[in-house]
Amino acid sequence: MKILVIGSGAREHAIVHSFAQEAAATGAEAHELHAAPGNPGIGELATLHAVSAVDGGAVAALATSLGADLVVIGPEAPLVAGVADAVRAAGIDCFGPSAQAAALEGSKAFAKDVMAAASVPTALAHVCTDIDQVADALDAFGAPYVVKDDGLAAGKGVVVTDDRQEALEHAQACFATPRPGAGDPVVVIEEYLDGPEVSLFCLSDGTSVVPLAPAQDFKRAFDGDAGPNTGGMGAYSPLPWAPEGLTEEVVTRVAQPTIDEMARRGTPFAGVLYVGLALTSRGTRVVEFNARFGDPETQVVLARLTTPLSAVLRAAARGELADFPRLRWSDDAAVTVVVAANGYPSTVRSGDPITGIDRAEAVEGVHVLHAGTALDEGTLRSAGGRVLSVVARGEDLAEARRRVYAGVDHVVLPGSHHRTDIAEKAARG
Ligand code: AMP
Ligand code: GLY
Repeated sequence: MKILVIGSGAREHAIVHSFAQEAAATGAEAHELHAAPGNPGIGELATLHAVSAVDGGAVAALATSLGADLVVIGPEAPLVAGVADAVRAAGIDCFGPSAQAAALEGSKAFAKDVMAAASVPTALAHVCTDIDQVADALDAFGAPYVVKDDGLAAGKGVVVTDDRQEALEHAQACFATPRPGAGDPVVVIEEYLDGPEVSLFCLSDGTSVVPLAPAQDFKRAFDGDAGPNTGGMGAYSPLPWAPEGLTEEVVTRVAQPTIDEMARRGTPFAGVLYVGLALTSRGTRVVEFNARFGDPETQVVLARLTTPLSAVLRAAARGELADFPRLRWSDDAAVTVVVAANGYPSTVRSGDPITGIDRAEAVEGVHVLHAGTALDEGTLRSAGGRVLSVVARGEDLAEARRRVYAGVDHVVLPGSHHRTDIAEKAARG
């Protein structure tokens, strides 16, 4: 196939990496791979095109001129902006939901409404349009307080805190953020969910649901879950501690009812429904929906998938998931560790030279995915908060951990930081 991947992070590099490996694994002819805008790592596997990911007209024109068989949209911003609609309108198969369906991620209040209609278990919530409502909702739930910007906020929209003043200040900041074209600002206050978090990606063609393997993400910046929330500092899969039947439970109680409700509303969701869960003392609850693959969980989930990714994504794009053969998985474990730039997740320093990727990839089972990197006259430099995702496979989590950290130790990026405890507890058993 000719495949165009939209986006520029490590998640998109992981997707392109999976496509590139299919030929070797299956003996089939190699795909012709393209990406827009991509990054230097993706550029080693695909032809890069300097087209904005959020410009639907430009993406559709590129896909048409390439004669693409399939377009895969990675990040949320293009989905919410309607890029998948533009590609489908051009008659090209596209993996990624419509703008209306992507509102499951684009508006937390909308997601809550769909969950209520579909009887999906989630945190109780108040949707607030002014600070007095916020104050009442905070007092109704008590600490710890959970305050969420309704709209997309690039990982900065949620504050979980015991400090009532901090909770109010975050809500004020959300109300004060201008939202061109998005109407009046809304803040969602939620009941706090205790318990470990799980990410489960559910592929859908609008009707059927095919779950991938569950993964766990590490959202806080520093070891021991200290520091601020980030986009994700590492992940692993499988989850040896997860209750048996978790995936089936989530498909039955969460994913399928949500997909059915979206279809009932006339806005079918075709793409990947990212179900973020908390396994609380009172049962499994949805923390959030996203309308796309998670980053960095995708890096470990795809590392274990042995079914050709392009085939299942195309089946989802074409409405053919019901007949798709059962997905196959490696028995290996996979761990990824994010190497973050100096200052991440607040103001990051860019332009630092990156070396040692070759030495990292020489470690058995390790590959390195680019996120915030740029080529500057032949020198690879940091150009974002999360710079690299080092990924390792191993026969169990302990081996994958040893390998991933051996890889991370070879990477040299001045001032960078990473967590040293990714998958540590799970590997210990
Ligand atoms: P979200 O963007 O909704 O996923 O929130 C980001 C992170 O904030 C989640 O992954 C959780 O770690 C945390 N979080 C969100 N909602 C809750 C909640 N109701 N209770 C506890 N933690 C939460
Ligand atoms: N890893 C969390 C996310 O992709 O939203």
